[in-house]
Amino acid sequence: MDLSYPKEILFQSIDERINFFEKRTMAHPKLVDSYEDLMGKVDVLSGKGKVLLVYGPSGVGKSTLLKKVRSEFITKFYDDMLEDKGLIPVLSLEAFAPEDGKFDWIDFYTEALRNLDEILIEEKRLPLHEIGVTVPNEKTKRKLRHSLINAVKYRKVKVILIDEAQHMTKVANSKGLRNHMDAIKSLASIFGIPIILFGTYELLSFRNINGQLGRRTTEIHFSRYNSEKVDEIKAFKYVLLYFQKSYPLLEEPDLINEWKYFYKHTIGCVGTLKDWLNDTFNSKMKDNIETKTLVLSDFKRFEPTIDQAYVMASEITSGETQLIEQKEEKENKLNSWLKLDEKEENSEPKSINKRPGERKPKRDKTGT
Ligand SMILES: Nc1ncnc2c1ncn2[C@@H]1O[C@H](COP(=O)(O)OP(=O)(O)OP(=O)(O)O)[C@@H](O)[C@H]1O
Ligand SMILES: [Mg+2]
Repeated sequence: MDLSYPKEILFQSIDERINFFEKRTMAHPKLVDSYEDLMGKVDVLSGKGKVLLVYGPSGVGKSTLLKKVRSEFITKFYDDMLEDKGLIPVLSLEAFAPEDGKFDWIDFYTEALRNLDEILIEEKRLPLHEIGVTVPNEKTKRKLRHSLINAVKYRKVKVILIDEAQHMTKVANSKGLRNHMDAIKSLASIFGIPIILFGTYELLSFRNINGQLGRRTTEIHFSRYNSEKVDEIKAFKYVLLYFQKSYPLLEEPDLINEWKYFYKHTIGCVGTLKDWLNDTFNSKMKDNIETKTLVLSDFKRFEPTIDQAYVMASEITSGETQLIEQKEEKENKLNSWLKLDEKEENSEPKSINKRPGERKPKRDKTGT
């Protein structure tokens, strides 16, 4: 990978230099792997109503991955878009954090329709109270859902990307969780296109609902760099090297030698790291135009605190453990339901019964 940048940037204005560094994106191994895995799966699923879950820690780069997928779709359908002005190949939107603790489908449908340039949305959002009559929320929801189904068809949408999708898991009880996932699956099935949910490990609660739903989902784990794995430490150091060489400064700062410090405060999440490096550069440049380089004390001013790192690490550990436990638990249950272990044991005695020295039954070679 080419780590250099055009040196004339060094002579540009502060804002241009800050902007240059902020825009600098690294195609690091975890991002590339997740992207390729995702695009491969979307290819197989295109034209099928399936739900794809992309989960990972906060600040790992999930929204960056979403943007990459979005721009890939726009490039792919660019010529078609020129020919058909109504075509919107990708619908991408964010699931809002619920104000009252429960995810609001009316807001979600409204936002989706807005993204598809649907006119007259407000008319479909029936007022909750008309003169003396309460118009049920359900009616508004049904109306908006129906419009969205039509709009997705009319706009020939190929894929739907939903960021911050962990907010869709916010419900009062487990029945509510199932209803939400049912609603998403049924939309995917009616649209006949993949719906991709990007979110934190909270999305994992959607995985565990039931088998019928399970068949309709595929998933991708976009994980952080794990310091317990030698090759992942190496990759994390390479990310640091890339950014250290990307600073438009006369002298390259030394991030690599401090890799443990940067790792400890980011838990190996590239997005968290990049935000931190951006803030440090931005502030130092604005304080002093003559800045030649950055030193450790500059980074310390903007570091994610140990308290913040602790919270991040706890969330990550709990997400990663949940993934392992869910897998083990399911495998154990499956084995016990299918009695696979016992069957294997039962089939053993035939060969065990052989007398020592006796050959396995096998056809002898005949002829010359
Ligand atoms: N590979 C990368 N190269 C450069 N910058 C990156 C990269 N990945 C992420 N960033 C930057 O890091 C910041 C955080 O990344 P992003 O928003 O994608 O993370 P996220 O996983 O969506 O976080 P959250 O869980 O908080 O939504 C953004 O400013 C983004 O531009
Ligand atoms: Mg995000």
